[in-house]
Amino acid sequence: MTGAAVRVGVLGCSAIAWRRTLPALRACPDTEVVAVASRDGAKAERFAAEFGTDATDYAGLLARPDVDAVYLPLPPALHERWGVAALTAGKHLLVEKPLAADPAAARALVSVADDAGLVLRENFMFLHHPQHARVRDLMIGGRIGGPRALRAAFGIPPLPDADIRYDPTLGGGALLDVGVYPLRLAQHLLGDDLRVTGAVLHQDARGVDVGGAALLVSATGVPVSVEFGFRHAYGSRYELWGSTGRLLLDRAFTPPPGWQPVLRVEEQDHAEEHTLPAADQFRLSVAAFAAAVRAGHRAGHGPERAWCAAAVTTVELAAAVRAAAVTIPAGAVGALVPAGGQGAADPAELSAWR
Ligand SMILES: NC(=O)c1ccc[n+]([C@@H]2O[C@H](COP(=O)([O-])OP(=O)(O)OC[C@H]3O[C@@H](n4cnc5c(N)ncnc54)[C@H](OP(=O)(O)O)[C@@H]3O)[C@@H](O)[C@H]2O)c1
Repeated sequence: MTGAAVRVGVLGCSAIAWRRTLPALRACPDTEVVAVASRDGAKAERFAAEFGTDATDYAGLLARPDVDAVYLPLPPALHERWGVAALTAGKHLLVEKPLAADPAAARALVSVADDAGLVLRENFMFLHHPQHARVRDLMIGGRIGGPRALRAAFGIPPLPDADIRYDPTLGGGALLDVGVYPLRLAQHLLGDDLRVTGAVLHQDARGVDVGGAALLVSATGVPVSVEFGFRHAYGSRYELWGSTGRLLLDRAFTPPPGWQPVLRVEEQDHAEEHTLPAADQFRLSVAAFAAAVRAGHRAGHGPERAWCAAAVTTVELAAAVRAAAVTIPAGAVGALVPAGGQGAADPAELSAWR
């Protein structure tokens, strides 16, 4: 399809749709929101009134011939079921991050989209902010010498108890919600070929992971450490350390549209701060999706192949982090410090928690 705006239906009246994606879809000249769907009719009506669209339910949305593409902001464990339903109904799909809750579901989505000849994009908005391209260009241009280590973190304060992120059956947990940001950044800067070498996950009383860290290594041997969680002071940053300097970026993953990023470049004898132009990564992400649809792209072909492969790899890396992790249950943290003072964790205790 070329020329006309992509007609989008929103499946799930979620918080992120209300706050960010619907405003971005409304502002983008290449998209038009025609309907919003909810399990709750009153909620659908409220969203529809705010954004000037029709209100319907999930099945009604997928049956509409005037919907070219579906935006899917459901909890991660529901991405496969409703994503497959949307693709099978012939709709292009913009699905919220992470692509799915497990690798098999992520691969299934790509396979169905490929067979149907449709676009499948993950709404991982930070990738569209030009600040990361700037970092990559500086790295590739040798500004900090050869890369020696990447350290990236995304953490937020605790959420309300009923949040989907605390429900393991919905694909909750900090690893899939915020941990995937630094993992995807590492892919973006160092390539998809990353291996997990160790990890720690902290669980809460419901058995959901609320924080953790992982160590990975790139294909060229660059160590990557990622930290993430739901019980942290807000932090969203990374540091790329090279043989002759460092690149540092704060507010890296969710900069508000008006935020002018400050990229710090440190070398042996001086430091510079570059104030970069603000960018609306929400709008850039939906515009990129609309451009792919209008250009007739298909999942698994041409440029879409790399987008799909990277999205699947992120879910695989998250699964590898989980598999490698020393899991520390709620209430056990105190046991890491031996009575009477500082010291390393007892390896026997740690292996008992795996
Ligand atoms: N890209 C980003 O920056 C960003 C930021 C935040 C979140 N996200 C992603 O967006 C997705 C939604 O996150 P959110 O914070 O917007 O969550 P949310 O407000 O809880 O929305 C999830 C929606 O899913 C629908 N849903 C269907 N079955 C459900 C069930 N069994 N339990 C709960 N909800 C159900 C509900 O819509 P109805 O009631 O209308 O059916 C609900 O409003 C997640 O994948 C998350 O990772 C992305």
